[in-house]
Amino acid sequence: MEIRDLTPDDLDDVLDVRTRSFGPLPAADKENWRRVVRSMFGEGRYLGVFDGSRLAGAARLRRFTQWWHGRPQPMAGVAGVTISPEDRGRGVGSLLMRAVVERATALGDAVSVLFPATTPIYRSIGYEHAGVQHKVTLSAEALRHLRPSGQVGLRRMGPDDAAEVMAVLHRVYAAARASGPISKDERTWRLWLENQDDFLYLAEDGFVVYRWRGDDIQVENLVAGSAETARALWSLVGSASSIARNVVAAVAPDDPVLWMLREWPSEEVRQARWMFRVLDVAAAVERRGFPAYVSCEAVVTVDDPLGGGGSWRLEVAGGSGAVTPVAGSGVMLSVNGFSALYAGVPTATLRLSGLMSGDDRYDEALDAAFAARPYMLDSF
Ligand SMILES: CC(C)(COP(=O)(O)OP(=O)(O)OC[C@H]1O[C@@H](n2cnc3c(N)ncnc32)[C@H](O)[C@@H]1OP(=O)(O)O)[C@@H](O)C(=O)NCCC(=O)NCCS
Repeated sequence: MEIRDLTPDDLDDVLDVRTRSFGPLPAADKENWRRVVRSMFGEGRYLGVFDGSRLAGAARLRRFTQWWHGRPQPMAGVAGVTISPEDRGRGVGSLLMRAVVERATALGDAVSVLFPATTPIYRSIGYEHAGVQHKVTLSAEALRHLRPSGQVGLRRMGPDDAAEVMAVLHRVYAAARASGPISKDERTWRLWLENQDDFLYLAEDGFVVYRWRGDDIQVENLVAGSAETARALWSLVGSASSIARNVVAAVAPDDPVLWMLREWPSEEVRQARWMFRVLDVAAAVERRGFPAYVSCEAVVTVDDPLGGGGSWRLEVAGGSGAVTPVAGSGVMLSVNGFSALYAGVPTATLRLSGLMSGDDRYDEALDAAFAARPYMLDSF
């Protein structure tokens, strides 16, 4: 088996393996898939595993920005991991995932995320459960009742607003000190904002992307930087209430809309879990935001079978973190454990689940420094 970058000539074979893994795409989505994927060739972000000339599997590395405590950094979103049925169960997927992690590191990303269909293959390569995509069902009528002041200017948006949408995300997530949410790159936003079936509205400090889903409304993204804009956008969605009973929305677990409604939504909440991996300990710490009031240090040893491990003194102060190599051992973590810690999983959980051991004198400081409840509005 050999790992190679895919080329446009491999598209039909990739679509075949993909269909055997995830089922057939409707004709319209197939064209869209080809359009999105074609733009990724030549960037080293689509890997194939080949048995001679035959494609046995593939995986994409999507280019995202992810916020951690309000600070953005590039993130490799691993998607479309597929192995042909006849090649499964023989280590081919693990071989491919190893190449994916190495490629993400070579591309300069210090962190990576994926939505797992199964855990063992990703855990064995260093990914750990870390965050959620949280979907709630809200009453459209209740949203309509969030009467806006009428002071917020909303306008329809399209592909040319991609840069503005990204600028809004940067401002809102920094101000909220958000952990976990992502942005697509500008080219992908443009493709997204071309979708004729979506309703897209932009305010100065927020936007919404929503659409019909059967008789319901589905909110993909609703981001607001002020209470007024949140009311304006949610009530706009709720104005569909004469036709739609429910609005299914991806929101943060502590999204303000849950506190704005008269009644707490009692209906179904669905959570899709995502896994997270730190690829480069030093860069990931330096690129992460930390609470400005926390000032502490710890010695951590990270065991990474793919070569990214070592022992470091970790210092957090003034909202930033830095690491310097040391000889001591301190807190011992597998790379899975360090990834989970980075994403805010408490040290008590890490110790009891076997992901962390050794010196416990830094535990409370580590909990305070990395505290987070990471979420994601998008899935990929
Ligand atoms: C999941 C998939 C990528 C794994 O590829 P593979 O080549 O079969 O995986 P490997 O042989 O390298 O096995 C790696 C580990 O995953 C486990 N695994 C493989 N298939 C699994 C499955 N269907 N369910 C649970 N675990 C599975 C193996 O048991 C092994 O763990 P172990 O070493 O602890 O026994 C492949 O089965 C596939 O393409 N499935 C359909 C599409 C899919 O689900 N993709 C993942 C999207 S996130």
